[in-house]
Amino acid sequence: MEIINGKELAVTIKAELKAKVDKAVATGRRAPHLAAVLIGDHPASRSYVTNKVRSCTEAGFKSTLIQRPAEISQEALLQIVHDLNDNPEIDGFIVQLPLPEHIHEMDITLAINPAKDVDGFHPMNLGLMTLGLPSYLPATPMGIMQMLERYNIDIRGKNCCVIGRSNIVGTPISILLSRKATPGDATVMLCHSRTPNIKEMALKADVLVVALGRPNFLTADMVKDGAVVIDVGINRVEDASKKNGFRLVGDVDYDNVAPKCSYITPVPGGVGPMTVTSLLINTWKAYTGEIYPAK
Ligand code: GUN
Repeated sequence: MEIINGKELAVTIKAELKAKVDKAVATGRRAPHLAAVLIGDHPASRSYVTNKVRSCTEAGFKSTLIQRPAEISQEALLQIVHDLNDNPEIDGFIVQLPLPEHIHEMDITLAINPAKDVDGFHPMNLGLMTLGLPSYLPATPMGIMQMLERYNIDIRGKNCCVIGRSNIVGTPISILLSRKATPGDATVMLCHSRTPNIKEMALKADVLVVALGRPNFLTADMVKDGAVVIDVGINRVEDASKKNGFRLVGDVDYDNVAPKCSYITPVPGGVGPMTVTSLLINTWKAYTGEIYPAK
C-alpha cells in the first residue's frame, strides 16, 4: 500500500509555479493575482480561504482577500463580482461557498466572467470541460486527476466508483475520469443517496472516489483488494484532546481500509492541499490567457 502524499505533491507543484512566476516577473511582467471573496464567518470557509491566500504567497502570486459580513445584500455582492470582472489587475477570483441563504449562489456564479472563473464553476467552464475542450477545471477534481497522473496510476479501462454527486466534486470528477484523455478513459459508476446498492457497486471498483461528507462512510467490507481510494471528505469531529476541540477525518475508515488498497489518500494531507494548488494552476492559466486568449 502506498500513501498518496498530497501535501508533498502540492509543495512540488507550488515550487514549479513559483519558478514560472519568477521567470515572468524577471521579464518585467507583474505577478499573477488571485482575489478571494469571503462572506460571513463560517469557520471552515475562513480556514480554506486563509489557506488559499497563504498558498498564493508561497507560489509568488499576489492575492487580495475581500471580506464582507453575512448580511451583505445580493446586489452588493454582485457589484463586487462586476468590479473584479472589470479590474485588469485581477487575473482570476473565487467567491467562497457556501453563501448565506438569502443569496442565490447560481446568480453569483453566472455573474463571474468565465475567463476569470478560476474555480471552474461557471456553466461555460463546466460545459467546455464536458466537451473535452480547454477550460478551467474545478479545483478538487483537478487535484485528484493530478494525483493519479503524478503517481502514474493508469485508469484507462478501469472501473471507477464515485460516491457523491455534488456540483463541485462528484459530478465533475465522474466526467473527468470518463473523458477521452490521459488520465481518463475509465468506466464510471456515480453513486448517490438514491443508489440502493452502493456496497455492491463499490466492490466492483478499481478506483474509488468518496465525496459525500460523511465521516468513515467507506468501510473495509466495501473495498476490493488492491483498489485505489481517493478520500475527498474533510469532516470536523469533536475531539476534546485537541486545542481547537476538533480533528479532521475523511469519508473513509482509513485505518481499516488502507491495508486493502494499492494507493490511498490520507486526511488531512491528501486531496485538500491539491485543491488549493489547482486553484493556483487555473490562476496561472488566467494570467497567461491560455484558456481565454485576449481578443
Ligand atoms: N467551498 C468548498 N469548496 C470550494 C471551492 O473549491 N471553491 C469555492 N469557491 N467554494 C468552495
